[in-house]
Amino acid sequence: MIKFLVTGGGGFIGANFVRLALTEGWGAVLNLDKMTYACHPGTLAMLRRYPNYQFVHGDVGDRALVADLLQTIQPDAVIHFAAESHVDRSINSPQDFIQTNVVGTANLLEEVKAYWQQRPSREQDTFRFIHISTDEVYGSLGPTDPPFRENTPYAPNSPYAASKAASDHLVRAYHHTYGLPTLTTNCSNNYGPYQFPEKLIPLMICQALAQQPLPIYGDGQNVRDWLYVEDHCRAVYRVWQKGQPGQTYNIGGNCEKTNLEVVQTLCDLLQTRYPQPNVNYHSLITFVGDRPGHDRRYAIDASKIQQELGWQPQETFTSGLTKTVEWYLSHQDWVQAVRTADYSAWLASHYGSTLSAPH
Ligand code: NAD
Ligand code: TYD
Repeated sequence: MIKFLVTGGGGFIGANFVRLALTEGWGAVLNLDKMTYACHPGTLAMLRRYPNYQFVHGDVGDRALVADLLQTIQPDAVIHFAAESHVDRSINSPQDFIQTNVVGTANLLEEVKAYWQQRPSREQDTFRFIHISTDEVYGSLGPTDPPFRENTPYAPNSPYAASKAASDHLVRAYHHTYGLPTLTTNCSNNYGPYQFPEKLIPLMICQALAQQPLPIYGDGQNVRDWLYVEDHCRAVYRVWQKGQPGQTYNIGGNCEKTNLEVVQTLCDLLQTRYPQPNVNYHSLITFVGDRPGHDRRYAIDASKIQQELGWQPQETFTSGLTKTVEWYLSHQDWVQAVRTADYSAWLASHYGSTLSAPH
């Protein structure tokens, strides 16, 4: 059986990947996660139910731990999701992003290289290091610019995007310098189950259910490309199966929406699926001050992964968003458990008096 070392498998995309790997028989998984605020205990509890799954609490930057894990489980691939991932937090605390996303990835690469160099040559050929990155490394598009391609120059604008760009460059360099079989994926905005409610879609769902304001930055006309999380996970698995070492692959949903459109669609969905007496969800929409350096538009040209690896998204925005809303409605225990003192403190410090924590 294939053995994956997955980093950050307690977070949103990593957990969806691990669940699919275990339920679809992609392989056995060892999940290495530091359990930051973004790793929900309920998510880890869900994963623990599955056979062929192990969890290790630790930091990807801990070289001794990583070396030990690699020797012990001898993985066929490392799938590197672990990161600090929220742009707004990167504006407040860029050092955390540099530490995990840059230094952590550098340390992980160094230990993976040492492990890979000891493998017999046949196993060296089949080993893969898959680095999960973002479209944000490419910067911001104007309204009529063509979507990002794999050869679009890097122009990161937030500390988050800059830290991911730095890690992408390190991953590339370990392939070119040492021959480590690395592949990088740059994906657009994900949404779906198990996403921490600090990102746009789950924040809006949780706020709406609690009849609290829905804070939209600026004029709400910033554009993102949206992809259902399972489609992203299947793309990563396809890259593991068929991708060429040294290559990068853009992944996206061909689904550009303004933030206002996304929130209005969510309000319409909730109005039908979860009407509450005397509540018009649209009336909760509140425009708030803009994010500093807010990128105006992201769009992905995913034709390379479609044509070369035969990947296509399975969900439309409507079907994916409906599944997402249904998941949050049926996992109120998970949502309630997020309401820690830290979470309330984040909302209070970030949004000031505009919001209070969902109750
Ligand atoms: P997330 O914030 O939900 O989860 C990150 C996970 O990594 C958490 O479980 C956290 O505990 C863990 N982690 C953080 N620092 C760690 C460290 N030093 N060592 C070990 N574990 C650590 O993030 P996500 O949204 O699931 O994103 C996963 C990856 O996908 C990230 O690399 C992100 O840059 C990338 N990505 C995300 C999106 C998106 O829309 N969410 C889009 C494209 C790419
Ligand atoms: P986010 O989910 O933080 O993802 P990213 O910044 O990585 O794209 O934000 C998605 C979009 O939603 C982005 O343009 C910022 C906007 N946004 C709001 O308008 N209000 C909010 O409260 C949040 C968290 C995001």
